[in-house]
Amino acid sequence: MRQLYIAGNWKMNKTPSEAALFAKELAEKAADAKVKVMVAPTFVCLPAVVEALKGSRVIVAAQNVNDHEGGAYTGEVSCDMLSDIGVKTVILGHSERRQYYGETDEFINAKVLFALKKGFDIVLCVGETLSERESGRLREVLGRQVKVGLSGLSAEDMAHVTIAYEPVWAIGTGKTATPADAEDAHAFIRSVVAGIFGSDVAENTIIQYGGSVKSGNVRELMAQKDIDGALVGGASLTLDQFLPIIHCVD
Ligand code: PGA
Repeated sequence: MRQLYIAGNWKMNKTPSEAALFAKELAEKAADAKVKVMVAPTFVCLPAVVEALKGSRVIVAAQNVNDHEGGAYTGEVSCDMLSDIGVKTVILGHSERRQYYGETDEFINAKVLFALKKGFDIVLCVGETLSERESGRLREVLGRQVKVGLSGLSAEDMAHVTIAYEPVWAIGTGKTATPADAEDAHAFIRSVVAGIFGSDVAENTIIQYGGSVKSGNVRELMAQKDIDGALVGGASLTLDQFLPIIHCVD
């Protein structure tokens, strides 16, 4: 049985003091949630959020990490730096990193492998653009992103990997994939995972949906067989919107 996993990706929002205030309240109000909960603040907010969520069940994740031990990589943050402040989860391959910072599947795979070696849990994001979907390339694109992103991983590694399916055209646009379209993509992703690692691993892999998830659509999405949680952007920024989402199965 897969436990629902709801994550809030704060992107480039909130100052450290705003993030700490939010996290303190979230810690209290998420205490009785039945789902696994994570938030991903910016790097500069991480220490304050880790402190505010100490002793709570909310996991703190980074939005990115470098694929080297350390050294001359200006502007980058290493796995050891994150581990040192108590962060052991990272989102990799978000479509905004692919789109604005030129991250390729191969580069994302290097980060996945390095972060796993460093003992991290990963949320690997995949998803097609509107033109890829409309030109009938959905399966080709998702298949490649999943296969290359997870290349070189063992079946055991997959216990530390969550996949987030985020159709690019649904992110921040207010357009959500219909539950049936999302389910179709999730089932396909699970079949790709089964093809690589076997059906047991695929059955246990958490696949989140992301793209304009809100309190009003979360239940219908979560009711789909292969949708095991959500990666929430905009609606994770206020407690008014995020709390009903993490309590969607109460
Ligand atoms: P959104 O973002 O919920 O604002 O569409 C989702 C994401 O990019 O993770």
